[in-house]
Amino acid sequence: MRYAAITGWGMAVPDKVMTNADFERMVETSDDWIVSRTGIKQRRVVGPQDTTTSLSTAAARQALDRAGLTAEAIDLIVVGTCTPDQFLVSQACLVQAELGGTAGAFDLGAACSGFVYALATGSQFIQTGLYDRVLVIGADTLTRFVDYTDRTTCILFGDGAGAVVLEAGDQARGLLSTVLGADGAGNKHLYIPGWGAFVPESAGIFPEYRPYLQMNGNEVFRFAVRVMGDAAAEAVERAGLRFSDVDMLIPHQANLRIIDAAARRLDLPREKVWVNLDRYGNTSAASIPIALCEAEAAGQLREGHNLVFVAFGGGLAWAAGVVRWGTQGVCREPACRRSAAGDERSDSLEHRHGRRTSGG
Ligand code: ACO
Repeated sequence: MRYAAITGWGMAVPDKVMTNADFERMVETSDDWIVSRTGIKQRRVVGPQDTTTSLSTAAARQALDRAGLTAEAIDLIVVGTCTPDQFLVSQACLVQAELGGTAGAFDLGAACSGFVYALATGSQFIQTGLYDRVLVIGADTLTRFVDYTDRTTCILFGDGAGAVVLEAGDQARGLLSTVLGADGAGNKHLYIPGWGAFVPESAGIFPEYRPYLQMNGNEVFRFAVRVMGDAAAEAVERAGLRFSDVDMLIPHQANLRIIDAAARRLDLPREKVWVNLDRYGNTSAASIPIALCEAEAAGQLREGHNLVFVAFGGGLAWAAGVVRWGTQGVCREPACRRSAAGDERSDSLEHRHGRRTSGG
């Protein structure tokens, strides 16, 4: 059986920090309210020099370096984002233009669940045997679409990108189970009007038509509390594991109360739940890969650990999966990585079709 192990990981956030005190000066709010209702203390926000492309590329370079691969060795790039720099061409192609290579490249839209959707998609290409190495990116710059006069939304979001490299292996590593879901009828509770092909006739007439992120916070909150716990529990069950087998929950970082509810559902103590939304806010599709990178940097992840990723967001969509950490079973022999050393692409193709030793 083929698996898709995570062999590289990376993250990038903008330099600019916005604290709760900054928001106190902009809208009627308080540090107390924001911390007690969300858990957020500060976020990283794009400046004029930052783009979804620049953040994605920085995260991807780190992930490739860590995997010991060059972009030429990658077969496919999948970017989960709802804030691409432009709609034509895809964000994935813009990233590839920076990285190099000729991998297939496409975007996937599932808002805050985008990274887990993209991870599931990239893993499938490896598990089916079509590809050996996939770069998966979750990136968003939602603050570009936030109305900074709306206190109910502007305090929530930050920007960033995270990336992982997936490689074929013959041991149970990488995504072991997948739960994807959506309630399209809930699209009206969290959306960004405009910025797409549809422009209502009224747009030019009614000044209230504003292309900012719109959210019904209470509806999204109720939905999130329900699906985060249910989806995480289902992912554990589908992986054939018990809650006690879970070493770390890495949830989408939107609201501490939502994260706590998911942790309670899995019966996990706080030390087994990675939380960094106090420093980054909700970075949408970037939040899980950023949290993953930080958990690894803190020495919390070991070969064979069972991680649960779970996310929710616009759609309304949700996604969860159990990821077994580590690279056991991935072929690291030079022959397996020849394309990474700069050999001809044809060599890598020939290799992909049968010369692997233990790579699956
Ligand atoms: N500062 C002070 N008061 C505020 C603020 C603020 N920033 N925002 C709202 N309030 C007020 C409200 O106006 C309301 O006042 P009222 O009682 O006088 O009407 C009061 O606080 C309570 O408002 P609620 O909306 O009931 O507050 P709640 O506890 O539900 O928290 C929140 C609001 C934080 C938005 C919560 O509902 C939430 O986190 N929802 C989920 C949102 C989310 O995660 N969205 C991201 C999805 S990811 C994606 O795909 C982009």
